[in-house]
Amino acid sequence: MLEIQNLTKRYGKFLALDNLNLHIDKGEIFGFVGPNGAGKTTTMRITCGLLKATSGTVLVDGVNAITNPEDIKRKVGYVPDFFGVYDNLKVMEYMEFYGSMYGMSKEDVDEIAEGLLELVNLSDKKDVFVDTLSRGMKQRLCVARALIHNPDLLVLDEPNSGLDPRARFEMKEVLKNLGAMGKTIIISSHILPELSEMCTSIGIMEKGHLIASGKVDEIMQKSKGSQPIHMRAIMDGYDTEEDGREFLSTLLREQPNVEKVTYTEDEVLIAFNGNDAEAANLLKGLVERNVLVSNFYREKEDLESLFLEITGGAKE
Ligand SMILES: Nc1ncnc2c1ncn2[C@@H]1O[C@H](COP(=O)(O)OP(=O)(O)OP(=O)(O)O)[C@@H](O)[C@H]1O
Ligand SMILES: [Mg+2]
Repeated sequence: MLEIQNLTKRYGKFLALDNLNLHIDKGEIFGFVGPNGAGKTTTMRITCGLLKATSGTVLVDGVNAITNPEDIKRKVGYVPDFFGVYDNLKVMEYMEFYGSMYGMSKEDVDEIAEGLLELVNLSDKKDVFVDTLSRGMKQRLCVARALIHNPDLLVLDEPNSGLDPRARFEMKEVLKNLGAMGKTIIISSHILPELSEMCTSIGIMEKGHLIASGKVDEIMQKSKGSQPIHMRAIMDGYDTEEDGREFLSTLLREQPNVEKVTYTEDEVLIAFNGNDAEAANLLKGLVERNVLVSNFYREKEDLESLFLEITGGAKE
């Protein structure tokens, strides 16, 4: 559906995109994550035919966004990361205005807009002035507008920014429905857990490069096994506490998948490179050696910490 090959963008001397490669299948909800300045907006604007690339290819269903920006605009709907000012324009007029840009008749737009406003839960706002809508409503209106010409690909630049939890939830529902309708969707965000809930795949971008991409569950799988284990054990019966610790450290280091053992104030921290079954086996082995384990748990991996791991803490 979307194929980006060796995409490079320079702003003057500044290299914003450096030979970017990205592939998104039809029907995918793709989450684009990265810190400020990573190049998300740049990539999205080029994909929508709104910004010239320096070099490379962007194909949307085989149509080259770089050489055919006009054709691309018919295939793609874009929700920018800002909402303009629309003095004296009512919601339905706003939809008609955008429809007319695609050469649609007022009747056609009205009919389609009814359905779209329903989809984004704004049916009761048809006749109010756009400027009086709340931010969350404006964002949803923007999504409806971007769908007016029935594009195959919907590109949303930070649709959740500035929204309260309720509005985020509503936006998520809208996007889920669109996904169920078979639209291909790209969403950018700084907030990884939020994306992981609604996306089928994600790409993590930093400094103009894609540093990781794939199905959400595959990325999670890849990261599995790097989270440490926290453990406590009752080590009575040793001459000194130090002796007890020494014995336990040596024993732990002999076990499979244990990379490093450190003591914090009151627990043992085990750097462990195995999966959950291997962690369970470690515990079993300790119990079999009569170690009185009083606490044993694995740190939970989430996309947020994975993101920090991959970007080296560059998250904002
Ligand atoms: N018109 C421009 N002129 C010069 N530099 C630009 C221009 N637009 C973007 N850049 C630079 O290109 C880089 C990528 O910007 P871009 O807006 O694509 O990042 P982003 O990932 O969308 O960031 P954010 O999360 O802040 O929206 C940044 O370093 C930015 O300063
Ligand atoms: Mg941006």
